[in-house]
Amino acid sequence: MTADLTARLRDVVGPAGVVEDPAGFLTDWRGAYSGTAAAVVRPGSTEEVAAVVALCRDLGVAVVPQGGNTGLCGGAVPDASGRQVVLSLTRMRRIRDLDVANSTITVEAGVVLQTVQEAAAAAGRLFPLSLGAEGSCTIGGNLATNAGGTGVLRYGTMRDLTLGLEVVLPDGRVWHGLRGLRKDNTGYDLKQLFVGAEGTLGVITAAVLELFPAVRSTATAWVALPDPQAAVDLVGVVRGSAGDRLTAFELMSRQSVDFVLRHGAGVRDPIADVHPWYALVELSDTLPDAGLEAVVEAALGESVERGVVTDAVVASGSAQVAALWALREGISEAQNSEGPSLKHDVTVPISAIPAFVAATDRALAGALPGVRVVAYGHVGDGNLHYNLSGPQPRDDGAFRARAGELSRIVHDSAAAFDGSISAEHGLGQAKRDVIADYKSPLELELMRGVKQLLDPAGLMNPGKVLPG
Ligand code: FAD
Ligand code: MLT
Ligand code: ZN
Repeated sequence: MTADLTARLRDVVGPAGVVEDPAGFLTDWRGAYSGTAAAVVRPGSTEEVAAVVALCRDLGVAVVPQGGNTGLCGGAVPDASGRQVVLSLTRMRRIRDLDVANSTITVEAGVVLQTVQEAAAAAGRLFPLSLGAEGSCTIGGNLATNAGGTGVLRYGTMRDLTLGLEVVLPDGRVWHGLRGLRKDNTGYDLKQLFVGAEGTLGVITAAVLELFPAVRSTATAWVALPDPQAAVDLVGVVRGSAGDRLTAFELMSRQSVDFVLRHGAGVRDPIADVHPWYALVELSDTLPDAGLEAVVEAALGESVERGVVTDAVVASGSAQVAALWALREGISEAQNSEGPSLKHDVTVPISAIPAFVAATDRALAGALPGVRVVAYGHVGDGNLHYNLSGPQPRDDGAFRARAGELSRIVHDSAAAFDGSISAEHGLGQAKRDVIADYKSPLELELMRGVKQLLDPAGLMNPGKVLPG
């Protein structure tokens, strides 16, 4: 079966499109999920993707779409059966069009996010999606997970940045929806079905994305805070004075920063004293001399007087800005160096963050004394990565054995504060079963109905998103 399948796939995509050494496509970035595959193919065009999908449908073989394989919940990793085909979009990396007057860029699914940012910048525009994996994640993966990152509070998620899509449906037909329109009220907004579907409804092959005016000045501050309530207060103060010029507000616990200081290369603490929490605050403007430093300094000065801010550093120069961002963006990788981690990408109303953190910290300390809470994230959106590492001395086996129970505590707590168990990473295989406890039967029925309509044979990324 495998030899025959590989031969037929080779007929479709040519020898260059069939991967000889599939190892890098079968395990995720964290090493948390692994599988095997009947074949790994890298089609070079929409027509080839459609032909691969149609062939797999005819043979009853499941397809797992994959981009940069940086996803954090196992969505791009095949199962252990060895019967699935991994369809990597990484050869589809053409920028098809950049329309400055329409402020849009049309790109293929395998284009790396950073490449899109750079192409927009070269045209005097901004593509605002920004996240730690931007050097390797792809636009297709960003769309399929509805990625968020650090600019959401100003520019929205990938969903908000998408005007049109081209999609290969599970039966091999191509939906040509590459429109660059801001307004189009002609019935259901079909593109939004595929954004955030994590490859379970079809393979995205290209997209029209919205561009924004280029940023010409920024002010970046590293702020020490006594507690999460201070962070919530500070978001309000800075938003009040800077309005839409507030483009990032990231919160980090001392534990998170400690991990980066321990494992990151060339990083150092911007503030000598140790504080329990920090925020990275960034203002941006399209004007070259917008006086942003004065705006951020005034907001911080007022907050120091009110006891909301304990200490702060406003970056001077691009090297210091990069150093502050390296501390923030280095947390994921640094936590990997501390052994197995449990990722909880929760979101609650911003106002509920302090109570959520207090209640969840308390519940976890009772369940597993010494568990290390690595809480950080996009607090301006109400999105905390409330991740866990095991107690020390390390006992990975014992920590893994408690994983289900510990995650249940965090997720129940998010639900108790009217939150969600995934803000931006998705469900993948990591949360596909537990989501059944947090969505209503009607929501699950509607989701299954959509899946049944588009993929009645269940061959598009099975075992992901929908509960078994
Ligand atoms: P993959 O991992 O390859 O795939 C992810 C999912 O999308 C899978 O279900 C896959 O089947 C599906 N898929 C991929 N391509 C297609 C396609 N063309 N058509 C249909 N389905 C497809 N995420 C955030 O949202 N915000 C963050 O701040 C953030 N920070 C991160 C930091 C680090 C260090 C890392 C490692 C990851 C981070 N992520 C973050 C998670 C991840 O990078 C994003 O989810 C990213 O959007 C995934 O893109 P990818 O190309 O790697 O997708
Ligand atoms: C981030 O914002 O750094 C990632 O989305 C969080 C994570 O890796 O858990
Ligand atoms: Zn994040």
